[in-house]
Amino acid sequence: MRSPQQVPQPGLPEHVTIYEVGARDGLQNEQTTVSVEVKAEFIARLADAGLRVIEATSFVHPKWVPQLADAEELLDILTLVDGVRYPVLVPNERGLDRALAKGIREIAIFASATETFAQRNLNRSVAESIAMFAPVVARARAEGLTVRGYVSMCFGDPWEGEVPIEQVVGVGTKLLELGCTELSLGDTIGVATPGHVTALLAAFAGAGVGSDRLAVHFHDTYGQALANTFAALRAGITTVDASAGGLGGCPYAKNATGNLATEDLVWMLHGLGIQTGVDLEKLVETSRWMAAELGRPSPSNVVRALSSN
Ligand code: HMG
Ligand code: MG
Repeated sequence: MRSPQQVPQPGLPEHVTIYEVGARDGLQNEQTTVSVEVKAEFIARLADAGLRVIEATSFVHPKWVPQLADAEELLDILTLVDGVRYPVLVPNERGLDRALAKGIREIAIFASATETFAQRNLNRSVAESIAMFAPVVARARAEGLTVRGYVSMCFGDPWEGEVPIEQVVGVGTKLLELGCTELSLGDTIGVATPGHVTALLAAFAGAGVGSDRLAVHFHDTYGQALANTFAALRAGITTVDASAGGLGGCPYAKNATGNLATEDLVWMLHGLGIQTGVDLEKLVETSRWMAAELGRPSPSNVVRALSSN
């Protein structure tokens, strides 16, 4: 079978927006040096496969994430497709200046629910990092940009262990108060389970933050990402982050392996009769090509299955 039998379930959305993070969350963690031309081709192929939101790169400090030090060069050679959004990560005003200089219209800031990860990833406490984001969000919104706010370590932290749900809601609501247009709730190390997802989304709803302002960002370290996504869909989530071929991780988080693979997500969504606009064959072909560039097979189950029959 090249596509799943469609058996819709009541109570699920008709359409899901896939927020593709392979070029950023995926490639930021690669040991292999990926040329800027290969990155541009990867992004072009993702757009051709029907993805409509493709996080392109990060305007972070090049010493912190050398793999994405070519952000400007990438934007110079990227062929932008009408109707496709290309958000980028921006941690501070320096990053915002760099993004604005390249005509970027959509950015994402990235906070942490825990102190240890804030320190390791942003060199600041949670409060100091929110203070760093405040002028970024204010200026970006004044310029008419949309601003996503990531919250990392929402379901567990490799140094601190369990993360209280109220702590996550506290950081998330602060980002919305700054002016973020959407929150992406990150399971950076892939430890979440479906009941935890349902409880966190219910806590956000209780704090007045509905599913229309939330996205989910699952890593598949413990094989839970699809089950967690299904729980999120049942709670009304319609934006799901995923990474083509399951590329990914975070250089500053111990045990952060690949994101939920976009192909695995598309297989489940299409089986549920949920539209994504993605051409699965083209996407698998793209991930096979990227895996060859990286010199190792894709960890995605669907990429493997569709490559062997
Ligand atoms: P810092 O060292 O504290 O920076 O790093 P600073 O503000 O003290 O500035 C020091 C120098 O860096 C200055 O230069 C700045 O101009 C320069 P100097 O005056 O010394 O010559 N600088 C920059 N240069 C270029 N671009 C910039 C920039 N900012 C400062 N944007 C900083 C603080 C936030 C910059 C650093 O910690 C950093 O870049 N961190 C990024 C870490 C990162 O990208 N992590 C991965 C993304 S998060 C993730 O993957 C999780 C996610 O997927 C969700 C999930 O799974 O949970 C989103
Ligand atoms: Mg991530």
